[in-house]
Amino acid sequence: MREKIEEAAVRYPDRRSAIMPALLIAQREHGHLPGAVLEEVADILGVERIWVYELATFYTLFHTEAVGMFHLQLCDNVSCMLRRSEDLLRHMEDVLGIKKGGTTPDGLFTLSTVECLGACEMAPVMQVGDDYHGDLDVARIDALLNSLRATAGVDHASIPPPGE
Ligand code: FES
Repeated sequence: MREKIEEAAVRYPDRRSAIMPALLIAQREHGHLPGAVLEEVADILGVERIWVYELATFYTLFHTEAVGMFHLQLCDNVSCMLRRSEDLLRHMEDVLGIKKGGTTPDGLFTLSTVECLGACEMAPVMQVGDDYHGDLDVARIDALLNSLRATAGVDHASIPPPGE
């Protein structure tokens, strides 16, 4: 991680400007950004720890808490809200048996809402990892969840409905 952050830092005239790419590198390496990792990033860059904390806790792309294998980030900003993203959130909460902000007990899914993903033309939109999924409806959500389970090697037919 140190080597990759040093490589990124040389592209910027000021090491403080490299905090965002450094956080992305650290998150890819560790899965999320607990306090010890944030401090390590600050120490590698030689910047104030508070600057690193501020960015890590401001942007939704950074996770200071552990997330599931698939982080479902549903946009709930205006365009997506007008195209019923709230219904999709309720549906996912029902199907996954968790509330917004929660992670399924098998560690597969974390469900969050986020601000505009900059893809309003295909609202409602959800980001999963680095991929965007748009023009979503309940059927597409179900297909997506099943495909993600298949990717993880989980047979979706074996998943009991919530509450069982
Ligand atoms: S409002 Fe959802 S992508 Fe812009």
